[in-house]
Amino acid sequence: MKIGVLCSGGDAPGMNAALRAVVLTAAEWGAQVEGILFGFDGLIDNQTAPLLPEAVSGLARHGGAFIGSARSPRFLEKDFRQQAAEHCRRKGLEALVVIGGDGSYRGAAVFEEETGIPCVGLPGTIDNDLEGTEYTIGFQTAVQTALEAVDKVMDTAESHGRVFVVEVMGRDAGHIAANTAAAAGAHAVLIPEVPHQVPALLESFKRYQGAMRRRPIIIIYSEGESEVGREDLVRNLRTSFPQLDVRSLVLGHLQRGGPPVAADRILAARLGRNAVLALSRGLSGMGLGIRQGQLVHTPLAQCKKRQLPPESYLLELGSLGLHEWKS
Ligand code: F6P
Repeated sequence: MKIGVLCSGGDAPGMNAALRAVVLTAAEWGAQVEGILFGFDGLIDNQTAPLLPEAVSGLARHGGAFIGSARSPRFLEKDFRQQAAEHCRRKGLEALVVIGGDGSYRGAAVFEEETGIPCVGLPGTIDNDLEGTEYTIGFQTAVQTALEAVDKVMDTAESHGRVFVVEVMGRDAGHIAANTAAAAGAHAVLIPEVPHQVPALLESFKRYQGAMRRRPIIIIYSEGESEVGREDLVRNLRTSFPQLDVRSLVLGHLQRGGPPVAADRILAARLGRNAVLALSRGLSGMGLGIRQGQLVHTPLAQCKKRQLPPESYLLELGSLGLHEWKS
């Protein structure tokens, strides 16, 4: 059997660990693996490379996606998908493992339906916003990276008694923000899933403003928050509380890099291994995930963007710090 594997969408720490597990499990079963370079674009453009077991040695500890990852607007078009299928057939690829988020899964589902080439999806996105799994590959690392950054900012916030608005990633979901805020012991957290947060935040600041001057205050702001832009929020805080020294910081793509934490490596390896086992048993059209510790398979078409908001206890913990200034 010859399996093609690709990473699609934004890279996520742990994708390499998944690739390693796919290649080594395939080797165990006597199958070959072809790496498709830069996502579905690599399939359209016939850009692939054989992945030999020795090439993935030590790969699990590295962030990024060593075969490249990309979003492919061309793959939305049937003609390009047919071109990709033709390249698959010519290369003898009998199945695909697609590592990515909901857009990548959609592409894989349509591709399998149109071409009959079996596809299995692995959830790879730092946003943790995919149906069919409790955790996506890369999420835990992104939270840890954001937490370490916030801890460092807290040092300087303490020294100067400043307010920092720290923007974390999450295109449409506040999971990174909620988890980072709870772990960091932040003073406020704003996420897209909760409406009308700014008036409440200003109100709570008003209550404590007497004691807040020259105090370190951390507000975690999710990039997906749409009610108020980060810059508007900063402006609003400066106007409403002129005694506070308000600064802002965008963590951005830092959160996508670095060595994956243990939880992401294990998740990625478990899912990567099971993707090959699933294909060898004739199972396809499924996204693999973990629920309550168990491996689960969900039809790719059902693995949409998850709408489940972060647990409310995370939001409570992520804003508990404000009560430090209760006088
Ligand atoms: O989906 C993962 C993610 O990192 C989002 O959190 C973020 O909005 C987006 O990708 C950024 O994408 P790009 O790397 O294309 O700027």
